Amino acid sequence: MRLNLKQQALLGLLATFVTNVQAKTAAEWKELSIYQVITDRFATTNLTAPDCWIRAYCGGTWKGLERKLDYIQNMGFDAVWISPVIHNIEVNTTWGFAFHGYWGDDPYRLNEHFGTAADLKSLSDSLHARGMSLMVDVVINHLASYTLPQDVDYSLYPAPFNTSSAFHQPCPIDFSNQSSIEDCWLVTEPAPALVDLKNEDQVILDALINSVVDLVETYDIDGIRLDTARHVPKPSLAKFQEKVGVFVTGEALNQSVPYVAQYQGPLNSAINYPLWYALVDSFMGRTTFDYLESVVKSEQATFSDAHALTNFLDNQDQPRFASYLGDGNGDDVLRDENAATFLFFVSGIPVIYYGFEQRFDGGFDPVNREPMWTSGYNTSTPLYNYLARLNAIRKYAASITGTQVFYSDDTVFLGSGVSHMAMQRGPLVIVLTNVGQHIIDNTGYTVTGSQFSAGDSLTDLVSCTKVKVVGANGTFTSPSNGGKARIWIKSKYAGKFCS
Ligand SMILES: *[C@@H]1O[C@H](CO)[C@@H](O)[C@H](O)[C@H]1NC(C)=O
Ligand SMILES: *[C@@H]1O[C@H](CO)[C@@H](O)[C@H](O)[C@H]1NC(C)=O
Ligand SMILES: *[C@@H]1O[C@H](CO)[C@@H](O)[C@H](O)[C@H]1NC(C)=O
Ligand SMILES: *[C@@H]1O[C@H](CO)[C@@H](O)[C@H](O)[C@H]1NC(C)=O
Ligand SMILES: *[C@@H]1O[C@H](CO)[C@@H](O)[C@H](O)[C@H]1NC(C)=O
Ligand SMILES: *[C@@H]1O[C@H](CO)[C@@H](O)[C@H](O)[C@H]1NC(C)=O
Ligand SMILES: *[C@@H]1O[C@H](CO)[C@@H](O)[C@H](O)[C@H]1NC(C)=O
Repeated sequence: MRLNLKQQALLGLLATFVTNVQAKTAAEWKELSIYQVITDRFATTNLTAPDCWIRAYCGGTWKGLERKLDYIQNMGFDAVWISPVIHNIEVNTTWGFAFHGYWGDDPYRLNEHFGTAADLKSLSDSLHARGMSLMVDVVINHLASYTLPQDVDYSLYPAPFNTSSAFHQPCPIDFSNQSSIEDCWLVTEPAPALVDLKNEDQVILDALINSVVDLVETYDIDGIRLDTARHVPKPSLAKFQEKVGVFVTGEALNQSVPYVAQYQGPLNSAINYPLWYALVDSFMGRTTFDYLESVVKSEQATFSDAHALTNFLDNQDQPRFASYLGDGNGDDVLRDENAATFLFFVSGIPVIYYGFEQRFDGGFDPVNREPMWTSGYNTSTPLYNYLARLNAIRKYAASITGTQVFYSDDTVFLGSGVSHMAMQRGPLVIVLTNVGQHIIDNTGYTVTGSQFSAGDSLTDLVSCTKVKVVGANGTFTSPSNGGKARIWIKSKYAGKFCS
């Protein structure tokens, strides 16, 4: 059969749809763990380590990230979430430059600071060749303008956004009024203004959706992190989710479980902000572990699927976990290890923000967006190796129960004391503490009601210590580990980690 050019092009197009088998569903994402990077801050193309102003472009690129994928994969991560890729305003604003990518002004162009279209495709291809997945951060709530609201030059935006009628009129948000959250401007002044798109207008919404569908298809993107989702009406989010097809986790920054739970349904998943508030408070010793337990139970009961939520200890908008002083006890790497252990075994998808493993301790934005190269990408740090172990244990535990069971099994809590808590997931019983190296009480922690049976021998996959005797009702004492976490499993399963 002879084909004319148009037919050949059509076939080529079909082939790209057919080969785009990587795009992942929520069920597939539940099995992954995600490493989050700000492209500008992760690695430069030639792997040099330039000095830079924290509010300017520092030189990180998609090529640089591609060259450092071993660093990420050897820590056991399956997926990389990168900061927004579209073109941003090129102005030195009151807050500096748009290196983070959240000040888009053209959804149809890439941000050339990070490289070319070929570079982004190459990053995606390299991830897929390694069996890894790509998540891209996307913003549909607003475009940015370096001016004050009354001075926005709408003609600078591409059609159909090149008119004021594509946007809401400027007004400051009243956070007690959901309509105002959706219709008013997230930032009005000082410049840059975040010019609020009319997401409820079908022409505008379709244009935004099509720009993202095009991005997903062109670069074989496996998942989307949707910025400022609570500022977009829920029916528009639902349409976005349906049309882009791949897994979407949306940002709804709020501590309230019922509030954030409204966004799962319209979207596959939400960034788990309610859990983050509880995690920081309990691991800093500001509240008891009972509070953390109550939040997880409430999430399991309220969200349509708590296992698809994306859980985190810190991110580009929040102070780094290691920046908190807490109650003055345990502000150390062991506390970080305990919190990360919780993150990896509570229901949901763990997300680690780049630099956690190097114990970066930047506080509020922008100092929490440090250039990664200052660390030398050291693979010998305690947290680098601990995260590698957690990733391996999570996969191993899932292989014992079967992935279907493990990634949909609710976390079971086995009680908590002043500075300890215990929880059960799959074949594991995990004992955590929030006092770090400052541990004083060395008596250990007694777990009751566990899945283990009288006489079972248990091994801790963190230290490879054994406990011989489990009593009635699954009771056993988890000896103090000098402030480290314990991950108990029946000794017959421990060989892979403790031979
Ligand atoms: C690395 O790349 C930067 C930016 O393109 C360039 O200025 C610098 O000269 C390069 N350094 C080396 C050692 O190649
Ligand atoms: C951007 O503006 C700041 C002042 O807000 C100034 O310190 C900095 O040098 C400027 N940077 C560039 C590259 O223009
Ligand atoms: C928007 O851009 C399109 C395409 O360039 C153009 O046809 C249209 O007139 C522009 N609209 C306005 C309001 O400037
Ligand atoms: C809520 O915000 C919307 C949009 O700005 C506004 O029209 C409405 O009057 C507000 N409602 C109340 C009760 O303030
Ligand atoms: C969370 O949402 C509720 C209900 O809209 C609101 O009252 C509260 O201020 C929000 N909290 C934050 C931190 O935005
Ligand atoms: C890497 O980290 C280890 C452990 O913290 C430290 O001993 C070593 O000095 C670091 N290497 C470099 C080159 O900084
Ligand atoms: C078994 O352990 C659970 C959980 O700690 C507890 O609620 C229950 O009372 C215990 N049962 C017996 C018989 O001790």
